Amino acid sequence: MIQDKYKLLNPDSLDTPAMITYPHLVEQNIDEIIRLCGNPENIVPHSKTHKSSDILNMQLIRGIKSYKCATLKEAEIVAECGANQIIIAYPMVHPRKLDRFTSLIKSFPETEFRAIASTQTHLNLLSEASKNAHKDIGTYMDLDTGMRRTGVQPGSSAVQFYQAIDKTLGVEPMGIHVFDGETLYIPDFEQRSQIVQKNIEKMEEIWKSASDSGIQVEDNLAGGSWSFQHYADHPYIRPTPGTWIYWDTRNAEMEELGFQIASLVLGQVVDDDTEMDTATVDIGSKSCSSDQPLEHRFKLIHHQETELVLQNEEHAVVKLNGASLNVGDFVLAAPGHACTLTVKFPYTNVVSEEGSVTGIYQHDARDR
Ligand SMILES: Cc1ncc(COP(=O)(O)O)c(C=O)c1O
Repeated sequence: MIQDKYKLLNPDSLDTPAMITYPHLVEQNIDEIIRLCGNPENIVPHSKTHKSSDILNMQLIRGIKSYKCATLKEAEIVAECGANQIIIAYPMVHPRKLDRFTSLIKSFPETEFRAIASTQTHLNLLSEASKNAHKDIGTYMDLDTGMRRTGVQPGSSAVQFYQAIDKTLGVEPMGIHVFDGETLYIPDFEQRSQIVQKNIEKMEEIWKSASDSGIQVEDNLAGGSWSFQHYADHPYIRPTPGTWIYWDTRNAEMEELGFQIASLVLGQVVDDDTEMDTATVDIGSKSCSSDQPLEHRFKLIHHQETELVLQNEEHAVVKLNGASLNVGDFVLAAPGHACTLTVKFPYTNVVSEEGSVTGIYQHDARDR
């Protein structure tokens, strides 16, 4: 990591812990995703990483018009910002979610809202929603290629379920949705590429059977930041990564990708323990999430030799390993997982390339 990339003048002007974001690095990431996917129409970014209308507007201006959302709040914000197409890539089961979805369809007639499904219950609920919305709902079959989280299993179950979508009143088959979480954190490029090739074969079987039965396949969505580059050239698949917008230390393990870590946590050393050779900073799990193994939760970017050895709610203890950190020093931490960072703060502080705090980006989709 190039350390001088992250300048921050007057860190004491922000109370710690604070999230900060460098817009020039976000812009570079947008350039990079467009370059890798060929054009802005060939990307369906997930909005769950940034949860902010300010960041959405930066993407919309660059011609990215379709978005994936995990929550209805994200979808509401994306619709308000003027996206053309929104896919709720999460099974909607609760009646309140379906009511909000229906309201969105009615309130934003210019925006196309689509859903995913993997059980007959999902289809029945979407069919009901379509009656209330007075519109058919474009629906992707969620295919589980190996993550075992959501989705229909490939093979005959998937072939049959795609036909079930076609048979359900008010629900229109769109194609296949794949989130291949099985590719996460595999450092080897070739290994990830081979998994994706197999996943595409699983999709091809469904396309062929749909075509034989005269059922439409209009579009397909696949992949996250660990796999999207392997789908990007496919003519029938639009990649759907999310983390690329802010990037993080885990994703940066993929050295072939040129994204920049654009959001950090500003913290301060609040205590030290010379006997243990540790310093305690105020970047606890309530400001930098604990969903990664301890060693991957954050890295102090100007003190790479330090090592996180304990993290509680408001404290993190780092082994110094030769670093010099004194009580009162400010530190910048690069998160291990950008997507769970955003929800820790109501907004992020915008910091210019020169290091001045120039404003904030609201996390207006922070709640569900
Ligand atoms: C359904 C779905 N699509 C897309 C993504 C984006 O993946 P990433 O955050 O690795 O870019 C995720 C991430 O969790 C996801 O769950």
